[in-house]
Amino acid sequence: MAPKSVSSSRTTITELMIPAYANFGGKIHGGIILSMMDKVAYACAAKHAGSYVVTVSVDGVNFREPISVGELVSMHASVNYVGRTSLVVGIRVESENVRTGECKHTNTSYFTMVAKDDKGDPTPVPELILENEEDVRRCLETIKRRQVREDFKDEFDNVKSRMRLRENMHLLEKERVVLDIKQ
Ligand SMILES: CC(C)(COP(=O)(O)OP(=O)(O)OC[C@H]1O[C@@H](n2cnc3c(N)ncnc32)[C@H](O)[C@@H]1OP(=O)(O)O)[C@@H](O)C(=O)NCCC(=O)NCCS
Repeated sequence: MAPKSVSSSRTTITELMIPAYANFGGKIHGGIILSMMDKVAYACAAKHAGSYVVTVSVDGVNFREPISVGELVSMHASVNYVGRTSLVVGIRVESENVRTGECKHTNTSYFTMVAKDDKGDPTPVPELILENEEDVRRCLETIKRRQVREDFKDEFDNVKSRMRLRENMHLLEKERVVLDIKQ
């Protein structure tokens, strides 16, 4: 299977935010943005893999700025890393006010996708050709992010397995909760 460059699968989708996408506060539902991100991640990963892909996990969804009705949202996606059957797609989300031309960066998120064959089994993807320093930086960041995520997961699994409710009840004293346990 021939390697493929980052640029060969780079994908952008742009969509106008219509009133049907808004919540009761007049801002765009987070779910609309998540759905758009999933679509662009699919398109980008499927182009690289040359097969059907599924979403396995999502990292870094923090909406830093609200998006309003009438804005033009663009999602720029590129493959940052490939494993054997998995790919990590980085997505930069930008929103433009078409009247003023003002552009804001609302979030950058990372979707892990897995390529599947016709039987639904994970299938190998082409190696990734890194053509410039930006490609290299994103690839290295993905490797580091994965490491940090694995360390965090191990640490948290450890904390969770050792957690005893009674010993930790004092943590609730600082929280805005009311204990109303019936039994
Ligand atoms: C993702 C999935 C294919 C993994 O199946 P599996 O039997 O564990 O397969 P494998 O162990 O061979 O893993 C396949 C790849 O997924 C990666 N993977 C599995 N779980 C992962 C996770 N939680 N996060 C990141 N990568 C993951 C593995 O590292 C492996 O990558 P690699 O081949 O590049 O090393 C399977 O869990 C699945 O189909 N999930 C449902 C996905 C889906 O339907 N998404 C849409 C939700 S509506």
